[in-house]
Amino acid sequence: MSEKSMLSSRLFFYLVTISMFLLILSSVFLLECSNTSIIPRSVFERILVNSTSVYFKPSFRSEQITSPFTPSGDTQINVERPVRSGKLACQVNNSSRKMPSPGKHRNMECVPSQAHLRVFMYDLPPEFHFGLLGWKGRVNQTWPNVSNPSRIPTYPGGLNLQHSIEYWLTLDLLSSNTPNVLRPCSAIRVKNSSQADIIFVPFFSSLSYNKHSKLHGKEKVSVNQMLQRKLVQFLWGQEEWKRLGGKDHLIIAHHPNSMLDARSKLGSARFVLADFGRYPVEIANLGKDIIAPYRHLVRTISNGESAPFDKRPILAYFQGAIYRKDGGFIRQELYYLLKNEKDIHFTFGSIQGKGISSAGQGMASSKFCLNIAGDTPSSNRLFDAIASHCVPVIISDQIELPFEDVLDYSQFCLFVRASDAVKKGYLLDLLRGIKQDNWTRMWENLKEIAHHFDYHYPSQPNDAVDMIWEAVSRKISSLRISLHRGNRYKRSLSLVQNN
Ligand SMILES: *[C@@H]1O[C@H](CO)[C@@H](O)[C@H](O)[C@H]1NC(C)=O
Ligand SMILES: *[C@@H]1O[C@H](CO)[C@@H](O)[C@H](O)[C@H]1NC(C)=O
Ligand SMILES: *[C@@H]1O[C@H](CO)[C@@H](O)[C@H](O)[C@H]1NC(C)=O
Ligand SMILES: *[C@@H]1O[C@H](CO)[C@@H](O)[C@H](O)[C@H]1NC(C)=O
Ligand SMILES: *[C@@H]1O[C@H](CO)[C@@H](O)[C@H](O)[C@H]1NC(C)=O
Ligand SMILES: *[C@@H]1O[C@H](CO)[C@@H](O)[C@H](O)[C@H]1NC(C)=O
Ligand SMILES: *[C@@H]1O[C@H](CO)[C@@H](O)[C@H](O)[C@H]1NC(C)=O
Repeated sequence: MSEKSMLSSRLFFYLVTISMFLLILSSVFLLECSNTSIIPRSVFERILVNSTSVYFKPSFRSEQITSPFTPSGDTQINVERPVRSGKLACQVNNSSRKMPSPGKHRNMECVPSQAHLRVFMYDLPPEFHFGLLGWKGRVNQTWPNVSNPSRIPTYPGGLNLQHSIEYWLTLDLLSSNTPNVLRPCSAIRVKNSSQADIIFVPFFSSLSYNKHSKLHGKEKVSVNQMLQRKLVQFLWGQEEWKRLGGKDHLIIAHHPNSMLDARSKLGSARFVLADFGRYPVEIANLGKDIIAPYRHLVRTISNGESAPFDKRPILAYFQGAIYRKDGGFIRQELYYLLKNEKDIHFTFGSIQGKGISSAGQGMASSKFCLNIAGDTPSSNRLFDAIASHCVPVIISDQIELPFEDVLDYSQFCLFVRASDAVKKGYLLDLLRGIKQDNWTRMWENLKEIAHHFDYHYPSQPNDAVDMIWEAVSRKISSLRISLHRGNRYKRSLSLVQNN
């Protein structure tokens, strides 16, 4: 062996040794880090503790969720923004990543580098949002002051509340910039749209549909239609919209009839919906859109007052309107099959006013609550059942469920195909066949997940608002992948042309 080759092989040996050492060091570092930060706070914490729980193990890691995203169509990557990858997160103290438990107070500020989702919100005039609640600010004031939770504008009650998701999300964004409001740091409003992961459109579309669809006097278009037209004009004119053709915009259209005129024009955006029942698949689909829970009408019962198996005399509970069209014929079929059973409560009529509290009592005294497809695949009833810790029986083949990528509904709901449910005796045999221990397991799971379906102001860790932001954050990672893939050759070519 020549001296030269000996020297180079020795050099090679050192190199290998050093790199192996570095490799081991970095994996140790990563492992330590993962204890506190790779799987972020929120629901995923539980997975590590108990793999038999109702939560799915997510198949992604937080780097993917939180890596920076430049919505601008140009090829500039914003390098100044902190990368919230494992490495950086590990430098953040455990205390600052930790979520306050509900009711507990948090002292630190929520800053954009810690939030999972940076949201730019258009300053639409109040007629699109709080103006619809009758709120009037000072001249040129766009948003109400939300620093005092007891003085925020209130959303109309009754059935309107079911679709009030627009209100809770907008309030939450406003409060993310308000000092002294204690909330989880999942989403934060940023004032510069090129620093945002998603562009939020603060239009109260469900309220606009519910309250302003009627024509008054000589009007040719309703306020609801007028607002939708204005919104389309506005959005199409924005630089933010033009960058990606609206793909990074988030529009809330929870009432199945909201945004009826504008939905196809704005169909490239992401929608927050109750279900896909009234949408063609190219406008709304699970690939881009988010299913949000209804805001339930009955009050959430506490775990302490939740009646166990033998304190719930009613086997199955259903109260709802009767429908003859679409999937709803099944309600009638089931009514004839079940109406003579003593331990079954099955009545028609929508719940309103006093009916709501009696429905709440009924559900809280029932082992199972039937959730039967009506004129839309989803309904508020499922979330009323969950709030009452009454095991939902879902008879709705087309239903879409909120947060199903992290929640395994089969752990706390029964699913029955419509074609089976209408067979004589099928449903009764099924429900009577579920004995106390199996029912109790589902009930325990219900108690554990019920808070994911509660809307609060200020929002609370893992409540519905927090869960929706997390769901948005998971969804946009696929947008980033397609954006970055699209840049592959485009970017390389543009470099050549510039030289
Ligand atoms: C995991 O969950 C199961 C069922 O929910 C429960 O019986 C068990 O005690 C839990 N284990 C831990 C470590 O929490
Ligand atoms: C981390 O926490 C320690 C105490 O536990 C504190 O002294 C230190 O300043 C914290 N570091 C940061 C970056 O907050
Ligand atoms: C992490 O948190 C625990 C308590 O939750 C605390 O005792 C410990 O000092 C913290 N460690 C650091 C590095 O801040
Ligand atoms: C309201 O805004 C308009 C246009 O930006 C401006 O001319 C006017 O001075 C503002 N009024 C007040 C009271 O700030
Ligand atoms: C909002 O109201 C609080 C008092 O409730 C006040 O301290 C604060 O300055 C107000 N903020 C704005 C922007 O007016
Ligand atoms: C917004 O952010 C971009 C990229 O970080 C920056 O170039 C631009 O100057 C910012 N605009 C404003 C108004 O701060
Ligand atoms: C019901 O419980 C029994 C024992 O407790 C168990 O063997 C069985 O698998 C359970 N059935 C279902 C459908 O969970």
